[in-house]
Amino acid sequence: MAIVSSGSAAPLGRRGRDASGAGVADPEDQQGRAGGASQRLVDAEAAPDEAAEVQPREDSLRPKRLADYIGQSELKQVLGIAVEATRARGEALDHVLLYGPPGLGKTTMALVLAEELGVRCRITSAPALERPRDIVGLLVNLQPGELLFIDEIHRLNRVAEEILYPAMEDFRLDLTVGKGTTARTRSLPVAPFTLVGATTRAGSLSSPLRDRFGLIQRLEFYDLPDLQAIVERAAGLLQLDLEREAALEVARRCRGTPRIANRLLRRVRDVAAVQGHGRIGAELVHQALSLHRVDARGLDASDRRLLTLLLEGYGGGPVGLETLAAGLGEDPTTLETVVEPYLLQLGFLQRTPRGRMVTPAGRAHLGWPAQLGLPGAAA
Ligand code: ADE
Repeated sequence: MAIVSSGSAAPLGRRGRDASGAGVADPEDQQGRAGGASQRLVDAEAAPDEAAEVQPREDSLRPKRLADYIGQSELKQVLGIAVEATRARGEALDHVLLYGPPGLGKTTMALVLAEELGVRCRITSAPALERPRDIVGLLVNLQPGELLFIDEIHRLNRVAEEILYPAMEDFRLDLTVGKGTTARTRSLPVAPFTLVGATTRAGSLSSPLRDRFGLIQRLEFYDLPDLQAIVERAAGLLQLDLEREAALEVARRCRGTPRIANRLLRRVRDVAAVQGHGRIGAELVHQALSLHRVDARGLDASDRRLLTLLLEGYGGGPVGLETLAAGLGEDPTTLETVVEPYLLQLGFLQRTPRGRMVTPAGRAHLGWPAQLGLPGAAA
């Protein structure tokens, strides 16, 4: 027997389906944006597919509870209230969308939420949900109140999205049993669950999917005191004797990103171990991170290459993203979502309608003279 998923392709508002639960055909479906859901087969004989579940790398440095999670105060406040209210009502937490640059703690926050709610968190990533049965397998195996974390949720294909709509709204899976003229729609209940979606590109999410999240929160780059506290906490867990100034030095170089802070700290630990330093000071951090070509403001070789190409090749810009990416041999999306956000945040790069430009602060950081007639230039 084959089961065909039949979620509606129509961009419905909340609870905008007909009472039977059958989806309404969307003309766009016939165009096949990503293939109509009704065309995709789910092999009913296959065992519930858990291959789509992804195990996060065991990371002993991740905070487990909200109280241990440093920074993102607004996010913690909003989610803390939601968790407390949800626990009091004994319901599943409303669906949560977390967005922002990579490495700021979206996965960590999903695991923290599960810990606070006392439930399990299943982790997957949109590219692992290629076939309808991948997402169906995860959904049918959820227990009441559990979290399903989908990373890179903007990359979900149309079929998976359509399966998710009724599951998110009404805790129901709409499946079509059989093929062609004998096809019948069946609804299967799904345990009340919480979808936690994470994305670096909230703008790329389809609006029907975005509209189904009750809580939509942006993660911000961390400020220096929070980063220093994160580094000191990690040093404690790694049993390192790290001076406060040394922690601050790591914090200055981690691009506002805890994942990078922890990575840099591990590189500093390596150098300290090899050189036989028990106590780690700022000078050792400087030495270790220079070895890895991370400069005093946290710019790495990719950042400097981008700014240097703009300055040497295009007089500082403006230059279009595609041209810049081609010149660097980089993928434009990686450039836009991974490299540029920190340079924009530092004020070293500017996005203008005509393209990317190096700012006077960016020029100064690379040791280029100020441009005459622009702010920062000598009179
Ligand atoms: N490790 C990584 N991110 C963290 C955070 N936000 N708080 C505490 N430790 C962390």
